[in-house]
Amino acid sequence: MLRFTQLLLCVSLLLGASTVSSDSIKFELPPESLAQWYKPLNKRQVWLHTMFRLRREMQAVEEYVAAGDRVHVEKWAHRLIEDYNSIATMVPEWRDELEPIWVEKLQHAATTGDFEMVTLSLKKLNHSCRACHDSYQAQSVLLYRVPDYQALKVSDGEQGELSYADLMDQLSLTINRIKIAIEDRQWQAAQRASAQFEQRLGLLQQSCSACHKEPQPEERILGEKSQQLLRSLSQQIEQQAAKPAASMLGKAAVAICARCHGVHRTLGDLKHLFEQ
Ligand code: HEC
Ligand code: HEC
Ligand code: HEC
Repeated sequence: MLRFTQLLLCVSLLLGASTVSSDSIKFELPPESLAQWYKPLNKRQVWLHTMFRLRREMQAVEEYVAAGDRVHVEKWAHRLIEDYNSIATMVPEWRDELEPIWVEKLQHAATTGDFEMVTLSLKKLNHSCRACHDSYQAQSVLLYRVPDYQALKVSDGEQGELSYADLMDQLSLTINRIKIAIEDRQWQAAQRASAQFEQRLGLLQQSCSACHKEPQPEERILGEKSQQLLRSLSQQIEQQAAKPAASMLGKAAVAICARCHGVHRTLGDLKHLFEQ
């Protein structure tokens, strides 16, 4: 799936003259063996759940150390060590990211009730958590948990199937066509474009349930409030009222397009960087 193991992400940085300047950021992708611990290769999000356990286990050890409860410190330290070591079994390429010396020290300290050493070992292990997260966390989320919108298809009676990107292009074309027609007082063209626009939005609406099993997300972006905006837009166009029509169009673009993009598109775009 991945043709490059490394990705060069170019960004323009406006840096002060005294700062060392750089116009690119380089970051590494996680080893491909990580994929088997995520859907769809796995039935569950195994990696993520291991991580949640690690954080919980660390917290438990810390809280029982503070309470002076030796029995529970030992219990949770043991679990922590087991999950921490499992990182190297799950993703062998990441073996070097771990701190086996501090695992051993934690093990010993937890068994002998040496709370000071338990605390120090936790701190050292935590450095390794942070180091790996700094290097790989964001990329892993983008690769394995952010959906791939490029794979989505929307069915359109006349044209067969449309990709999400094509549908987006059409939405963009029609919304701008409305805007241009309003400005130039081309009312028939504005009416035609606005009918097309609503038809395209109807197609988009069918796609939500592919990922959202509940009605609320769809309601929030394309529900009654947005439908009202679209109805007023049509009315203003019918009445040839250029200013209010343009204002309705702007509101609809914010309520429908921008709000949905904030959640989906930004992440989708970042994910695509890996596929170039
Ligand atoms: C060798 C790499 C590596 C090490 C070491 C590691 N992690 Fe992670 N961790 C990851 C990756 C990759 C993710 C992103 C997973 C995702 O969100 O799908 C992650 C995500 C997490 C998350 C989820 C964060 C969130 O809120 O979404 C928690 C919690 C976490 N790690 C805890 C820990 C703790 C605690 C340790 C150390 C005891 C640790 N991890 C060590 C790689 C690592
Ligand atoms: C390919 C999968 C996918 C499709 C298709 C999709 N979404 Fe989402 N959406 C997500 C994911 C992932 C999130 C992040 C939060 C989550 O997991 O629910 C999200 C979050 C949201 C949120 C913010 C969180 C919430 O639950 O309110 C809204 C609103 C939303 N989507 C609306 C929509 C609408 C409207 C459509 C259809 C036009 C749509 N989505 C289509 C995957 C998708
Ligand atoms: C599901 C919520 C959602 C709604 C509502 C939405 N978009 Fe999008 N849009 C996306 C996603 C996801 C992408 C990224 C598509 C991809 O990754 O291929 C996108 C991408 C785009 C693009 C870039 C297309 C390309 O070729 O990369 C444009 C332009 C666009 N949208 C316009 C609009 C306009 C205009 C509206 C409002 C009329 C709108 N979108 C409403 C989710 C949405």
